[in-house]
Amino acid sequence: MKSEKREKCGILYQTPGCHPFVKWAGGKSQLIPQIIRLMPPKFARYFEPFLGGGAVFFHIASYNRNAFLSDINMDLINAYKVIRNHAEELITALKYHQTEYNKSPKRYYYQLRDTTEVLNKIENAARFITLNKTCYNGLYRVNKYGLFNVPIGRYKNPLICDTINLRKMNIVLRQCASYLGVIDYKKILIEKAVKDDFVYLDPPFHPISNTANFTSYTNNGFTLKDQKELAIIFKELTRRGCKLLLSNSNTEEIRRLYSEFSHLTEVALVNRSINAVGSKRVGHNELLIRNYS
Ligand SMILES: C[S@@+](CC[C@H](N)C(=O)[O-])C[C@H]1O[C@@H](n2cnc3c(N)ncnc32)[C@H](O)[C@@H]1O
Repeated sequence: MKSEKREKCGILYQTPGCHPFVKWAGGKSQLIPQIIRLMPPKFARYFEPFLGGGAVFFHIASYNRNAFLSDINMDLINAYKVIRNHAEELITALKYHQTEYNKSPKRYYYQLRDTTEVLNKIENAARFITLNKTCYNGLYRVNKYGLFNVPIGRYKNPLICDTINLRKMNIVLRQCASYLGVIDYKKILIEKAVKDDFVYLDPPFHPISNTANFTSYTNNGFTLKDQKELAIIFKELTRRGCKLLLSNSNTEEIRRLYSEFSHLTEVALVNRSINAVGSKRVGHNELLIRNYS
C-alpha cells in the first residue's frame, strides 16, 4: 500500500506511526485501508473538520504535511493542543492519575469526574484523557449544564498514560498540523477550503433507527437538518473544486441527499462499538461517498 501511494503522490514522509489517543464514537480505525485506497492521488492541503480521535489524519500525515484539523468539542481540541505544546507536562499529570486510579478505581473515577475545581489546560487535558480511558465505552456525553456524566467502565488495567504514543503524536502534530482549533465544520470549510484541497468528512452518523440515536458528542445533537446542511456544503465545495470523501450511515435519507454521487459511492461494513446492547454492536453498513474518481 505504501509503495503504491509513494508512486502516486511522489513523497512519503518519515512520520512516526501513532494511533488515536482517545476511544471515540464513530472512530475510523477500521475503515483506514478503504479510506487510504480511496483518497485522491494528489491534493494540496488536508482538512478534517470532524476530527474526533483523528484515525484518518494519523495516516494521511505520511502523505501530507499541511493539515487543517478541527472539531466542535472543546475538551478534545484542548487535549490535542496540550499534546502538541506540553506533552511532557501532560505525561507527568497522566502518570499521577494512573497511580491514583490504580489505588481505588471507582472512588478516583467519580472524584475526578465530578470535581468542581478550576483546572488549567494541562490538568483539563489530563482529566479528559483519564476519563476517556476509564469511562463506559469511551463515551463522551455531557448533561444540559455541559458536565460530563458517563459512568465508570469495566476495565481491568486501563492504560491511562500511553507515553510512547503521546510523544509520537507530539511530533506528528508539530510536523503536520497547520491549524488545530475548535470551530464549526461549516465555518472552516466555507472560509478556508479551496480548489485541490482534500476534505475528509466524518459527521456524527445519521441514526439507522430511532433507538440507534447516538449524536451527543457535545451538548448539541447532529440532526437530519444538519445532515441536509452538510449535503449543501458538500455540493458548494464540489463547485469550488475541492476533493471530498464523506463517511456516513447507509440510510435512505443519506443516499437520497448524495444521489448525484451514487456512482462514486462504496459501501463498507463496520462494527459499531457505541451501543449499550452488545448484540447490536456488529455489522453496520457505512457509505463512503466521493466527488472525484
Ligand atoms: C463520527 S465523529 C468523528 C470520528 C473520527 N473520524 C475518528 O476517527 O475518531 C464526529 C465528530 O464530529 C464532531 N462534531 C459534531 N458536530 C460538529 C460540528 N457542527 N462541527 C464540527 N465538529 C462537529 C464531534 O465532536 C465528533 O468528534
